[in-house]
Amino acid sequence: MPSNESNAKNTGEPIRVLQLSDTHLFGSEDGRLLGVDTFASLQAVIELAQSCYKTADCILLTGDLVQEDPDKAYHRLAEVCQDLKRLYGRKIYCIPGNHDDPAIMRKVLSQYSDLFAFGPSVVFDSWQIVLLSSAKEGYVSGRLGDPQLASLDMFLTERPDHFSLLTMHHQPMPVGSYWIDRISLEDNDKFARVIARHKNVRVIAWGHVHQEFSHEQDGIIWLSCPSTCVQFKPAREFALDDKLPGFRLIELFSDGTIQTKVHRLENYNLGLDLNAKGY
Ligand SMILES: [Fe+2]
Repeated sequence: MPSNESNAKNTGEPIRVLQLSDTHLFGSEDGRLLGVDTFASLQAVIELAQSCYKTADCILLTGDLVQEDPDKAYHRLAEVCQDLKRLYGRKIYCIPGNHDDPAIMRKVLSQYSDLFAFGPSVVFDSWQIVLLSSAKEGYVSGRLGDPQLASLDMFLTERPDHFSLLTMHHQPMPVGSYWIDRISLEDNDKFARVIARHKNVRVIAWGHVHQEFSHEQDGIIWLSCPSTCVQFKPAREFALDDKLPGFRLIELFSDGTIQTKVHRLENYNLGLDLNAKGY
């Protein structure tokens, strides 16, 4: 298992986490997802993040990094992420989603070792961020699996004094969109039992649903993130939303509290085909 990475932050300032998700990049410049140039919209979201926040302590990319042609598309991800690294000087932590090929993702992104990292955890003075892979090969739904749940249990046991942010691609609780809640985290009951054994889990953040969601339950804040390209309506059946792409900021304070906010593009011509009936 890869080693954990430690980061000192003693300033009393919160740990600032930027979550970008579901970038769905193509291998060629003319690739479009439901009419959207996903490379350009990701670039625009990165510029938005940089205009909002001049510093960040951790950057998360929470899955569905590519849409097709992964051998080329992951290189295009590296190209566009250079801007993030240039400003923030931080590695970008990647987890796979159902549209990713985890093996190719690792192989290609590992060629940019100064740019990308994979966890499995990032440790700060008072917080740890645990990155979980919910990608299940050949399926659109997700699964953590018993070995990874055992590792999570270990991370939470070994650092009882660290508040924990857990992140994965698939939603571990329903967001209220029936069609996408049918392709969520299959072993969410086992996941819930692991985190119930510990007192240090404060935040769970995911992608996959292409919409904003937040819920507080038993002292834990459950969050989803918009996509950097296409948005889904918080509706029972599949529906595209004309909301613009964005990202989520999560600030982690040393007393275990958090603040979070979603930022979206404004006045951006997305080119979305709102008549599309599927995804
Ligand atoms: Fe996605």
